[in-house]
Amino acid sequence: MNVSGNTILITGGASGIGLAFTERFLSRGNEVIVVGRRQEKLNEAKEKFPQLHIRVCDVSKEEDRKGLVEWVTNEFPKLNVLVNNAGVQQRVNLLNADKDWNYYQNEIAINVEGPIHLSMLLIPHLMQQKYAAILNVSSGLAIMPGVWVPIYSATKAAIHSFSTSLRHQLADTSIEVIEIFPPAVNTDLGGVGLHTFGAPLDHFADTIFQGLEANQLEIGYGGTEQRLTAPREEIAEGTKRAWEGFLRNNPDF
Ligand SMILES: NC(=O)c1ccc[n+]([C@@H]2O[C@H](COP(=O)([O-])OP(=O)(O)OC[C@H]3O[C@@H](n4cnc5c(N)ncnc54)[C@H](OP(=O)(O)O)[C@@H]3O)[C@@H](O)[C@H]2O)c1
Repeated sequence: MNVSGNTILITGGASGIGLAFTERFLSRGNEVIVVGRRQEKLNEAKEKFPQLHIRVCDVSKEEDRKGLVEWVTNEFPKLNVLVNNAGVQQRVNLLNADKDWNYYQNEIAINVEGPIHLSMLLIPHLMQQKYAAILNVSSGLAIMPGVWVPIYSATKAAIHSFSTSLRHQLADTSIEVIEIFPPAVNTDLGGVGLHTFGAPLDHFADTIFQGLEANQLEIGYGGTEQRLTAPREEIAEGTKRAWEGFLRNNPDF
């Protein structure tokens, strides 16, 4: 992708992977707008990067998504890149799933409805730009599910599928569709401390930017994108081994 001179909306851009991308896009001369649910996190990001534009938005809510798109296209008519990065991850034991459906549905609304609806709302605007891009942050778990996060893995598989269809449908437009497949990365995903075993955030983000600069459309790290072409047996075996490892480390799950 063209990594400079854009006007970029990043969901969940005030922390974790989104903030690492924000920092890199800002240093390459882009105008960046970030949204998230927590005003204090957005304020912290703005203190660090005063040129940043911030707005509270819960991407799980249809009205918030519509309000965001109306505001951002009015305030930033040159908006030409959408980064669907906001996401949550919940461990769910399906043998003991006794919470209200609302709790489970929220993960689907944030991880699936948010990116799909925001893409659909913004396509008409992006089509008017000379160059545009939609970046979807999915996961290595889109291909090889993490059994302990079954709904999350399903949401990421959905985003992978949607990204593929979107890329085909937009093939004759000015909009590039890029999918990023993080492995476990050291962020607060799922709760503070649950991903400290993950890859270092800065090295991960720098590597993804090398992929963006090299015009890759499916970008992994540590081999996650290679799972796209891995044989079925390898995926099945990897899924089983990871699940057994999880149970060993989390006997109370
Ligand atoms: N870290 C990993 O190991 C890993 C691996 C594979 C894929 N990913 C994906 O990478 C993306 C970024 O995750 P991360 O690791 O950076 O996690 P993170 O540090 O928890 O960041 C998630 C961001 O999303 C925002 N967000 C969550 N729900 C939102 C909502 N309803 N509306 C708007 N913003 C919302 C959060 O801000 P608020 O809480 O303030 O809303 C936060 O800024 C996610 O899509 C995740 O699934 C991460």
